[in-house]
Amino acid sequence: QRGVPPSLSARVTGSFAYLTIRDRLPTILTKVIDTIHRNKSKFFEEHGEEGINAEKQAIALLSKLRNELLTDKPVIELTDGLEDADSWNEYLQRQQRLQGDQEPVSWFTSPWLYVECYMYRRIQEAVSLNPPISNFDVFNEGKTQSFYESQKAVMTLCTFLEDIQKNAEKLSPDRLSEDFNKLLQISLWGNKCDLSISAGQDNSQKISPIDALASLQPFILVNDSGMVWSSLMSSQRAGESVDRVDIVLDNAGFELVTDLVLADFLVSSGLVRKIYFHGKSFPWFVSDVTANDFHWTIRQTMAANHKWMSKRGFQWQNYLKVGAWSYHDHPFWTQPHEFCDMAADAPDLYARLQQADLVVFKGDLNYRKLTGDRAWDHTVEFSTALQGFQPAPLCSLRTLKANVQVGLQPGQGEKLTSRDPTWMTNGKYAVIQFYSPKPV
Ligand code: F6P
Ligand code: MG
Repeated sequence: QRGVPPSLSARVTGSFAYLTIRDRLPTILTKVIDTIHRNKSKFFEEHGEEGINAEKQAIALLSKLRNELLTDKPVIELTDGLEDADSWNEYLQRQQRLQGDQEPVSWFTSPWLYVECYMYRRIQEAVSLNPPISNFDVFNEGKTQSFYESQKAVMTLCTFLEDIQKNAEKLSPDRLSEDFNKLLQISLWGNKCDLSISAGQDNSQKISPIDALASLQPFILVNDSGMVWSSLMSSQRAGESVDRVDIVLDNAGFELVTDLVLADFLVSSGLVRKIYFHGKSFPWFVSDVTANDFHWTIRQTMAANHKWMSKRGFQWQNYLKVGAWSYHDHPFWTQPHEFCDMAADAPDLYARLQQADLVVFKGDLNYRKLTGDRAWDHTVEFSTALQGFQPAPLCSLRTLKANVQVGLQPGQGEKLTSRDPTWMTNGKYAVIQFYSPKPV
């Protein structure tokens, strides 16, 4: 690809990619091994001796993986024969062609995005090769714990939505757009709470997400929320609701609740008719939402001992029942591709997104995939970095946790670097970036 900067890679010693692969990924793998080991008696209770054997085998595979990673061994093909295995193995060959025959594709020499995704797929392989425990989610404990630890913030947020809805009758268009902006920003900052950047450590929401908004405002480096709103307004057909908004989910726990609250607002205010949620088909980047997390979160919200929280839970369940909300997964979301490959490599998913009036991409990993995880100059336009990925008007809500950021003003990046050298990776900053294939 001519004119496209190189992929971020651990090849650059000391880079965030390098530190992630050297330190963060092995820590995550150690925790996965420990989790499986701690569940040994549960596996025994459920599956007898077979459960114990599965535990042993899975740990052996994961220890081997950890060793491959620590000693920068070549990336190897998947052997589990799952639906997506061929596509992963083809992608490995594609990387090998790009890298040339001189050196093998490996953890420290190949694109960071690729090898980081590959680690999560290998964890899945280790579990899936051991049928008695093949449905075991190695990250489940962390995800549920982070939901419980954010309880107070969840209650505050549900009460906030209740207040908005109470006043819904008298909502002026200005007030509606103000509330939309607040909920968009709450969903944005919800992305701070992922468990991948913290290598599995608690990273839940402890303070009121609403009170925090004003003080977080200066940390939003690009704020296209006005364009997001205008785009939604222009998609309303003859005074009717917008037909469909898609939300490409990121993390379970508090972030998922912020996404559900945003989606609830869009539907209950009559702005949007349908919401499609997109999640992962197996455990991914520690805290990403799977179908199980999605439904579990709604059930927990229903069961809460708090009037407004449980009311929301019942409402969400009802949205699913009547089809106003639906949850979808697709193997492409758990593959290593840059999104500019989607039209060619997952044309069915691309076509599905084309039917949306707006696609909201949550989180850092989605931003890396939108921009190809490349060393772009900070002033390059967002539309350029998308490299032709334009299924529908789209918006990225992302807190910065990787060395890629485009669409800044000239000098903005340099200023940030001089004030806060780790601004791209410390999770303190955020962007709301919008792109539309048609003029807004
Ligand atoms: O391992 C660190 C890290 O991989 C980031 O660099 C990555 O993009 C992030 O974790 C996951 O963040 P998010 O949940 O926002 O996609
Ligand atoms: Mg995530």
